[in-house]
Amino acid sequence: MRPTVEALPKIVDQLPPGGVDFVGRADELDTLYTWVTGPGAAIPAQLAPTDPEHPGVTRTVWLPRDRVVAITGPVGVGRTEFAVRFAHRLAPQFPDGRLYARLTGPRGELIPPGDVLESLLYALGTVAIPSSHEERIRLFREHLDGKRFLLLLEDVTGTAQLRPLLPQSPTSLVVVTAVVPLTGLGRAAAVRTCALDMLDVRASTELLGNLAGHTRVACDPRAADELAALCDFHPAALRMAGAWLRARPRYAMADVGRRLRAERLRLHEQAGDDLAVRACFSLIHRELVPSAARLLRLLALVPGREFGADAAAALADCGPDAATRSLTELRELHLLEPGSVPGRFRFHDLVRGYVQERLDAEERPGERRNARVRLLDRYVRLARSAERVIVGADGPEPDADVRFASA
Ligand SMILES: Nc1ncnc2c1ncn2[C@@H]1O[C@H](COP(=O)(O)OP(=O)(O)OP(=O)(O)O)[C@@H](O)[C@H]1O
Ligand SMILES: [Mg+2]
Repeated sequence: MRPTVEALPKIVDQLPPGGVDFVGRADELDTLYTWVTGPGAAIPAQLAPTDPEHPGVTRTVWLPRDRVVAITGPVGVGRTEFAVRFAHRLAPQFPDGRLYARLTGPRGELIPPGDVLESLLYALGTVAIPSSHEERIRLFREHLDGKRFLLLLEDVTGTAQLRPLLPQSPTSLVVVTAVVPLTGLGRAAAVRTCALDMLDVRASTELLGNLAGHTRVACDPRAADELAALCDFHPAALRMAGAWLRARPRYAMADVGRRLRAERLRLHEQAGDDLAVRACFSLIHRELVPSAARLLRLLALVPGREFGADAAAALADCGPDAATRSLTELRELHLLEPGSVPGRFRFHDLVRGYVQERLDAEERPGERRNARVRLLDRYVRLARSAERVIVGADGPEPDADVRFASA
């Protein structure tokens, strides 16, 4: 028997929370919003001159099957932040549900569309997920057919990966982020591309002010402009510089500017387009307390996307309180991002690359191996504890520190 759409328990809303201190990009947001919601703007209809059965009546014979907004731009420019902001603004227009999926793994690997469909179908309440790819596509389209769903797909690598995920229903909207523009969707989709560039000076200094305090920016606006320029107006670099300043309330804007200039000179030969972000990262990493710096490096060994204090404690071979303190410090410096639930964290992809470089350069192979073994041992013990809870497995009670909650 073919699996069918089951009753949806409630509206699915998978959108990640939007950043509270989003700056700039107002024109781009307004233009896209109008494209999606303006009268007929997003769905150009091709009209047939007449219907043979009803002469004189004009009817629509062609609609693009999908509406796609593609947000493109260089790595770290702010595509995710923008797309999430845009999706939240649009959410009321898509009352049937908001779906979210990443199409690239934590180390840049492509996630096959079949796996993405599996997780989307699961989110939609499908209990029996079909094993056949075609059947997954069919069922997904059946779920969305004629409904108003917003689908946010992150880090799409190309049209071939995207095509099976398109709902083929113009009542829904697909928002994608990608490094390169999407080509080759043809007439089947109405595509609107928004190519993001770095922030402007005003938004850049606003972001610095949000993080380090607006009084400090107002006290020395020239130094703030210079710092923004030293960050190449790159949002990720501005965040790190702002966080660095916030942790040093006695420093002036010009102090971090001076240090950043020196760091840029030191690194300019090994860096490419990412000089500003790399220089900010390097500055912050060098000034971390040794225990937090070591934990940061070891966190690059985590195989999955997210981690919490338990994994951090295993990696650094320390207690959970010390691990939590270091994680909090790293988060405050914007070297880590919040994870999907409180107490869990993840790397920004850009930062992960720099951390991996520091891990390779600064931790000896033996230390890396031991840390990995401690982490995997922890995972195994947690899995055993979970098994006891789920299937009531026999065997000795696991250690108290890795016991899985039974309720
Ligand atoms: N408009 C903005 N206002 C405030 N912060 C921003 C803005 N744009 C980006 N940022 C911050 O800059 C950093 C990089 O942004 P984001 O993750 O959105 O970039 P990206 O282009 O999706 O990066 P990646 O290439 O890794 O996917 C994040 O810390 C984000 O919070
Ligand atoms: Mg992104």
